[in-house]
Amino acid sequence: MNARDAELAEILAGLKKPRKEISPKYFYDERGSQLFDAITHLPEYYPTETEFGIMHDNVDEIADLVGPQASLIEYGSGSSRKTRVLLEHLHDLAVYVPVDISEDHLITTARKVRSEFPDLEVLPVVADFTQPFALPDPTVMPQRNVVYFPGSTIGNFTHDEAQGLLDVMYEEAGADGAMLIGVDLQKDPAIIERAYNDSAGVTAEFNLNMLSHLNREFDFDFDVDAFTHSAVYDEDEGRMVIELVSEREQEVSGGGDTIAIADGESILTEYSHKYTLDGFADMAQEAGFAVRKVWTDADRLFSVQY
Ligand code: SAH
Ligand code: AVI
Repeated sequence: MNARDAELAEILAGLKKPRKEISPKYFYDERGSQLFDAITHLPEYYPTETEFGIMHDNVDEIADLVGPQASLIEYGSGSSRKTRVLLEHLHDLAVYVPVDISEDHLITTARKVRSEFPDLEVLPVVADFTQPFALPDPTVMPQRNVVYFPGSTIGNFTHDEAQGLLDVMYEEAGADGAMLIGVDLQKDPAIIERAYNDSAGVTAEFNLNMLSHLNREFDFDFDVDAFTHSAVYDEDEGRMVIELVSEREQEVSGGGDTIAIADGESILTEYSHKYTLDGFADMAQEAGFAVRKVWTDADRLFSVQY
């Protein structure tokens, strides 16, 4: 089975579950990556600016912890905006390896980073990081691997999936390695819900674009206008639940299958888990990491952890 067929099978399997779901990785075609960038500039979406502030305020300490001649391997690099703070301050970085599923966006971003940092080797990898993938061979042998996983993208995975990812990252970091990760924190649910229900409707467009992506790439025939965006915080589970709700009874076809969707039925497109510091430390420890340093903003909205 080729990669596209495997993805199609995965999408259909999700749509056939009693509770329909589509993996959030299908948000990110070129348009989805642009819409996510727009989200990061929204006044309601606190994670990006807050994480930026934490990075700015602590980058010298971070650079000292990372040490010289590291290989920086970034999972879900997107537009590498926050990474630039690191690239400017890390000591004598050996290589930067941005890993992302959104191919065109990754290649364009890698080109920009190369032009801004002409002395740095930049080796982008187009991959689904939940599956095994090969790391490129850098020209200069790095002293250590540092896995960088910003943006609280870890929150888009269930606890079991996140644990599996941390296990793999621990292996990838290796004996002398480290991980630098952005983790969004539990807080007043009103602040969290606002971040996913912005007044300009960009998050709704981002969510709905997933169906346009499936129509374009996988020949589905979703009637995008017949769905609405829903984003609600589940306080018991500590996570945003982001869905597309069908406004009428309808059928969708794709990959030789037809799926019935009831009026009011929802398709789960994303969780965004919010952690406590203790809760995340337990998961990191389970994977073999020890939390050496946690930086937060003054309001404890977000954390960056080493
Ligand atoms: N790190 C950036 C972008 C976060 S958005 C930031 O902090 O702002 C999440 C990014 O992860 C997107 O660029 C998306 O394309 C990528 N992504 C999501 N799921 C992925 C997967 N399974 N494999 C590879 N990349 C993925
Ligand atoms: C990429 N990820 C961490 C974002 C989040 O906040 O969970 C994706 C997102 N979904 C809607 N808005 C932002």
